[in-house]
Amino acid sequence: MNFKDYIRVIPDYPQPGIRFKDITTLLKDGAAYRAAIEAMHKAIAHKEIDLVAGPEARGFVIGAPLAISLGVGFVPVRKSGKLPGETVEASYDLEYGKDRLAIHADSIKPGQRVLIADDLLATGGTIATTIDLIRQLGGEVVGASFLIELSYLPGREKLGGIEVQSLITY
Ligand code: PRP
Repeated sequence: MNFKDYIRVIPDYPQPGIRFKDITTLLKDGAAYRAAIEAMHKAIAHKEIDLVAGPEARGFVIGAPLAISLGVGFVPVRKSGKLPGETVEASYDLEYGKDRLAIHADSIKPGQRVLIADDLLATGGTIATTIDLIRQLGGEVVGASFLIELSYLPGREKLGGIEVQSLITY
């Protein structure tokens, strides 16, 4: 299956010059969505994984089915203020301004092997911060899996050498 055919590229969204990669066209196709998760699973099947962690919101629609497919639990990484329990948090820079991500302090036990999943690797800021949060809890990041990687941006370099898998590359 050529997964790229299922991604809709929308020019000038959310601002002029950006070609937005819209995954909703893949998600609404049951066979394509399932095949994408299966292919992502296959690429990391050799790894020992205790948990999948994914950042909101699109990281949930990739990370949760991947966790079910692997037979492990899912840990949500959320924007600050959304999780009800005690959290660990970290800020990161956006193109304009800052954002802050949070994870439940008891969601990962020291030594647990965590795979990160998200729809898109762009600048890498979201996932670099997610790695930081997982490590603050003592988790071991065993890799990061993406539906899409924008290889013209330096996302990979920002992830400090963790193993990166991506299904679709632009
Ligand atoms: C998008 C995307 C990734 C992140 C990638 O999420 O889903 O999580 O940006 O960009 P980066 O590599 O430059 O950090 P966004 O923060 O827009 O949140 P959303 O999924 O809730 O739309």
